Amino acid sequence: MAEQTGGDPLFESHDPIFDRKELLHVGHVPDEDRIVGRDDEIQSVAAEVGAITRGDPPNNVMIYGKTGTGKSLISRHVATRAQDAAQGNDIDCGVLYVDCSEANTETRTTRQLALSLKEQTEYQQNIPLRGVGTMEYYQHIWSILGDCFDAVIVILDEIDKLDNSNVLMQLSRAREARKTDAYIGVIGISNKVQYRETLDERIDSSFGHRELFFHPYDASQLREIMRNREDAFQPAVLEDGTIELCAALAAKKHGDARKAIEILKEAGELARRIGSETVSEDHIQQAQEVAEINRIEELTSGATVHAKLALYALASCIITGERETYKTREVYERYVGICELVATDPITENGLYRQLKEQAFLGVIESEKTGGGRSQGSYLLHRLVTDPKHIVKAVRRDTSLEELPTYDRLRETSPSTGNRDIDLTSFS
Ligand SMILES: Nc1ncnc2c1ncn2[C@@H]1O[C@H](COP(=O)(O)OP(=O)(O)O)[C@@H](O)[C@H]1O
Ligand SMILES: [Mg+2]
Repeated sequence: MAEQTGGDPLFESHDPIFDRKELLHVGHVPDEDRIVGRDDEIQSVAAEVGAITRGDPPNNVMIYGKTGTGKSLISRHVATRAQDAAQGNDIDCGVLYVDCSEANTETRTTRQLALSLKEQTEYQQNIPLRGVGTMEYYQHIWSILGDCFDAVIVILDEIDKLDNSNVLMQLSRAREARKTDAYIGVIGISNKVQYRETLDERIDSSFGHRELFFHPYDASQLREIMRNREDAFQPAVLEDGTIELCAALAAKKHGDARKAIEILKEAGELARRIGSETVSEDHIQQAQEVAEINRIEELTSGATVHAKLALYALASCIITGERETYKTREVYERYVGICELVATDPITENGLYRQLKEQAFLGVIESEKTGGGRSQGSYLLHRLVTDPKHIVKAVRRDTSLEELPTYDRLRETSPSTGNRDIDLTSFS
C-alpha cells in the first residue's frame, strides 16, 4: 500500500510486514463484525442498561472476568449502541468512560466525568483542573446532566483500582437525593473476581446491581479474533500455522485476546527488525516468551523482594521437582535456602504464606485448599499459572536478585530421579 510521503522520496517507506498496523493497537475498538463469540454477553449487558433507550431506569451492572476477555470492548460497544438507539427515540443519552487504573481517586474520577460531560455538551462554565474538591466536580456533573441529558451510561473500568466507592454511592443515589433527574446506569468492570467481596463490604443496597462473568476465550475463538485482523499484515506475510499457534499459546495461558493480539504484533515487529519477509511460528514463540516475561515483571513490579523470592522458590520447586503443586511448608523450606543465596534474612512462614496469597491475587499463582481429612486439617497447594522458566527470568531482572541461579542452572540440578531435597546452597 502506498504511504503518505509528502511527495519527497526521502521519506518514502514501504513497510514489508504491516499494512494496517493500527488494527493491532491495544486501544483499537474493532467494528461490530470483527467482534467474536460475545453475543450472549452483548445481550446481557444490553438487558441491564437497555431500559434507558425506552426512557426507563436502567440497572447497574458489574462485569467480572480476567484480562483480555472483552469486558472493556463489549461495555463500550453496548453503551454506544444504546446511545444510538436512545437517540432514535428522542432520548438524550450520554456515555462516559473512566479508566480507574488512572483515575484512581474520587477526585480524579469525578473530574474526568465532569470534563467529558462538558466536552459532549455546550456547557459554558469553567471546570478547574486542580485546586478544587470532589464536591465541586459533582456540582458540575449534576448540572450538566440536568441541563443536557435524559440518561447517561457511566463505564467505570478497572473499578477495583479506585481507592473508595463514594462515586458508586453518589451516582446510584443521585436521583433519590434529587441531584438530577437523569437516569444513571453504571457499568463497573473488574479483572478481579475477588473484588466482589470487597464491593459488598463497601457499598449499601442503593447500588443494586446485577453481575456478569466473562469467561476466557478458547483457541478457536482466539483464532477467529485474529483472523479478523489479518489485514493488519501485508498479504502472504503470515506463514501458515502462525495464527493457530498464537491462538493455542494464548488459550493455554489465559484465553486472553489482548495477549493474543499483542503476541501477533510483537512477532511482526520482530520479523521486521531482523529483516525477515514473513512471520514464522518461531517468531510467534519468541514473541510469546518476551510478552510473558514482561507481563510477570509488570505484575510483580510493586511486590516486595520476599514476594519475588517466594515466587522464585515455588518456580524452583517445580523445575527441580516432579510435581506441579507444592504446599506452603515446602515452598517455605526452599525459600529459606534461597534467602541464604542472596544473603537476605527470611521472613516467617506465616509471612511467606501472606506473600503467596498476594501473588495469587495478582494472578501469578493459584492456591487451592486441599482437605487433609478431619484429623489432619486442610492445607494450601500452590501452583504457577505460567511457565516456571518465565518466573525465573522475570525475578532475575530485579537487579538485587540477578545472582539467583538461572533456569538452565536449576534444570541441571534437577535429578530425573525425583529427588526433591536439593541442597540449594550447593550451586551458589
Ligand atoms: N470478542 C472479541 N472480538 C474481537 N476482539 C476482541 C474480543 N474480545 C477482546 N478483543 C480484543 O482484545 C483486546 C482486549 O479486549 P478488552 O476488551 O480490552 O479486554 P478486557 O477489558 O476484558 O481486559 C482488545 O484489543 C479487543 O479489541
Ligand atoms: Mg479492560
